[in-house]
Amino acid sequence: MKFFIDTADIKEIVDLAATGMVDGVTTNPTLAAKESRDFKAIIKEICSIIPGSVSAEVVATEHKKMMKEADILRKIAKNVTIKLPLTWDGLKTCKQLTSEGTTVNMTLCFSATQALLAAKAGATYVSPFIGRLDDVGQDGMELIADIMQVFENYPELETQVLAASIRHPVHVLQAAKLGAHVATLPPKILRQLLNHPLTDKGLATFLEDWKKTGQVIG
Ligand code: E4P
Repeated sequence: MKFFIDTADIKEIVDLAATGMVDGVTTNPTLAAKESRDFKAIIKEICSIIPGSVSAEVVATEHKKMMKEADILRKIAKNVTIKLPLTWDGLKTCKQLTSEGTTVNMTLCFSATQALLAAKAGATYVSPFIGRLDDVGQDGMELIADIMQVFENYPELETQVLAASIRHPVHVLQAAKLGAHVATLPPKILRQLLNHPLTDKGLATFLEDWKKTGQVIG
């Protein structure tokens, strides 16, 4: 499973890139707004830190305008992935961009039929929003399961399922069990994946016991 981080915060990206666990980055207009900086400059900087896919979302809602924005964003760096909403205009734009060799992440996916349309439009990634479905009393993970099942029936579909709107480590585990290709994680969740009190306790005991031997290795 690939791990993307869901943030536009450069400090967090630099910090987590050093772990070697970050395969890509996703941003959205809300995350960009938190940074109070020029969006294109943010994307350029992220692309220079992370060699993998960096999703930059258009804000236009009409096909021609989406194409215009996408054209500006994809010129920033080779690893920019254009993020488009799951609308008819988004799908049309997806088809055009992918036919031109640009990678596309179809976002705001809340149903398996939307995911199927994204795949038929040639999307590189489709992003089902797990947490936001859970928030309205639906089972977000069921959507991942449905999409995986549908995609397995049609091996010609190459779209990767990118589990998004992840709220806790159990979401990551469940998405991995279902075979989601990618999960995009808020930085805090990526850090939480490693935490276990028994690891900390066990390590402290090992180090204390080792001290008693009076030995050094090397
Ligand atoms: C995905 O690409 C989105 O940026 C993100 O996962 C949305 O998550 P949220 O529901 O926590 O805002």
